[in-house]
Amino acid sequence: LILIVAIIGIGGVFFYNGYVKKSTNHKAAQHPDLPIPAVLKDTNPDPNAADFTLTAQQGKKAFISGKTAATYGYNGDYLGPVIRLKTGEKVNITVKNKLPEATTVHWHGLLVPGSADGGPHSAIQPGKTWKAKFTVSQQAATLWYHPHPMGKTGEQVYKGLAGLIYVDDKHAESLDIPKDYGKNDFPLVLQDRRFNKNGQLVYKLNMTDEMYGFQGTTELVNGAVKPQLTVRRGLVRFRILNGANGRTYNLHLSGNKTFAQIASDGGFLKTPVQMKKLTLSPGERAEILVDFSKMKNGSTLRLQNGKETLMYFKAKGKAKKTYKVPQNLAVIEKIPVQEAVKTRKFVMSGMGPNVRINGKQMKMDRIDETVHLNTVEIWEIQNQSTSMGTKKMVHPFHIHGVQFQILSINGKTPPANEQGWKDTVLVNPGDTVKVIMRFPFKGIYMYHCHILEHEDLGMMGQYEVK
Ligand code: C2O
Ligand code: CU
Ligand code: CU
Repeated sequence: LILIVAIIGIGGVFFYNGYVKKSTNHKAAQHPDLPIPAVLKDTNPDPNAADFTLTAQQGKKAFISGKTAATYGYNGDYLGPVIRLKTGEKVNITVKNKLPEATTVHWHGLLVPGSADGGPHSAIQPGKTWKAKFTVSQQAATLWYHPHPMGKTGEQVYKGLAGLIYVDDKHAESLDIPKDYGKNDFPLVLQDRRFNKNGQLVYKLNMTDEMYGFQGTTELVNGAVKPQLTVRRGLVRFRILNGANGRTYNLHLSGNKTFAQIASDGGFLKTPVQMKKLTLSPGERAEILVDFSKMKNGSTLRLQNGKETLMYFKAKGKAKKTYKVPQNLAVIEKIPVQEAVKTRKFVMSGMGPNVRINGKQMKMDRIDETVHLNTVEIWEIQNQSTSMGTKKMVHPFHIHGVQFQILSINGKTPPANEQGWKDTVLVNPGDTVKVIMRFPFKGIYMYHCHILEHEDLGMMGQYEVK
């Protein structure tokens, strides 16, 4: 008997080491459980204030069973805890750097003064501490945090530095949607990585990586290789982050199952949007609802990126509650175009080491644009990079310090799921995207392509709000 168990065990290990990729029968039992990140402890007893501590540290993690990789993480070996914030709350976040190199922490999508934004100017040297202080001024949303040191963002995120931020508010609490963290409301951080034969993470950029952004060969969700999550047969909410350096995900569920998108980068959409496919470029988030209620007990659903499986959902047991998803999720007041005091153009061009915005590459001591506090502007973002071969040279454009609305993509109204608040927008080759926004805080902020290899190569600029 022991021998049989051992043989099955070894079989399982082989199955793990890549065979599963080509397998067509999806043996669910072989997959690791989806890791659910911890929620970071708020050490301030005052309900209107929150104190958090994050430590950027080195770690070791077995992505591939029996092999250990050297990693970076926040308060752990890989990725970081979920930071839960409430609208109106006064927040202090202390960041300790226990890495052997300088880092920064940027709160992607969070509206904070430039001094708390954690961009490349806020380097924390090894052994040092940095404090971010701000009041949460925006509505409920799924945001994230990651390092932003000059020229090293791609590598540090790759090693594992990233985590989610949830902003909660009264309105979100009042909505009849799943919101039980880790029970019917799950974060899914999508990333792709390359491992060498010793199971180490490899970040060695070749020409294709510099051209199109890093493309891994192994897919991770919350840091696990093709994991499985058991859910109740009912309505389940997933908060998906494209946390990859360079990959754009084209997501769908097996059997082309319909799901409803309820939120984009900056919060809830006006109304749920029924979808079968979802494109997420690096940096973007989407919250979706999937109805498992009609699935057979014990059956499996797959989350796919094109032909590739990212993870498995096993439907088991009945959910306690049935939901009537509200048709009105949020009121999104359109920023009137007439209020715009200026239209600026941003042209993304070049490839590999020549990627640039408006003909320039990022310089720490150069402010590229100056805008006025609380004014409205339209930014016209164009992707002029020419693709070579069959791959598309996309550039997801991200702006710090704001949440914007997409006015048009090539002159046309954006699709329904992109009509809410955004901080990152995919700009396809040849496309022009117009966005409108108000600048709520003073300070120095970045705008850049969120393909981290492009950002590190200089596809970034700075604007100052005065
Ligand atoms: Cu998600 Cu400038 O970053
Ligand atoms: Cu950002
Ligand atoms: Cu780019």
